[in-house]
Amino acid sequence: MKKIYLLTFVLFIVGHLQAQNANFKSDSVNKRIPAHATKSSMSTDALQATLYEIIDQKHAVHQAHWNVRGPQFISLHEMLGDMYGELNGFIDQVAERKLALGKPADGRPAEVASNANLSTVTSEFVSDHHVVDHLSERYKTISERLEARIETTGKTDTVTQDLLIALRNTIDLHLWKLRSFNYPK
Ligand SMILES: [Fe+2]
Repeated sequence: MKKIYLLTFVLFIVGHLQAQNANFKSDSVNKRIPAHATKSSMSTDALQATLYEIIDQKHAVHQAHWNVRGPQFISLHEMLGDMYGELNGFIDQVAERKLALGKPADGRPAEVASNANLSTVTSEFVSDHHVVDHLSERYKTISERLEARIETTGKTDTVTQDLLIALRNTIDLHLWKLRSFNYPK
């Protein structure tokens, strides 16, 4: 008799766990994704493209923070330290917005390298004026790409648009600070 009770109990537990497992795998999870996100991949595509770029830029800024040489060393070293910290915060926000819209975020180094589509960074020491020119050029490219994405996401997903606007504001501020290392004409 005890064996029957034990077997019934084991079957009950197994059945309960299977039901729970099925629930985790069920389509009902997808029904908890905001409706507008399932209609189009416009936002998640924009977020992923942005993610590749700002991870790549964060590494470029960090690399320059280490390897910059010249009279402006300390100013650039410290400013670039702040900049990569600010970019890092946006990397997490952009990735997690994509997750909020039901898609995984891809920050794998090899994918970042092949998809960011920004100019390459040297592994050598670099002069202070080259750092200013090179990072400015990359920031300007990112700013222009963001402008297009802000335009498109504004039509269907203002929350993503809002995040991209905040990011662009920071990108443009970094660009201004780098530009200010040049003498006025
Ligand atoms: Fe450092």
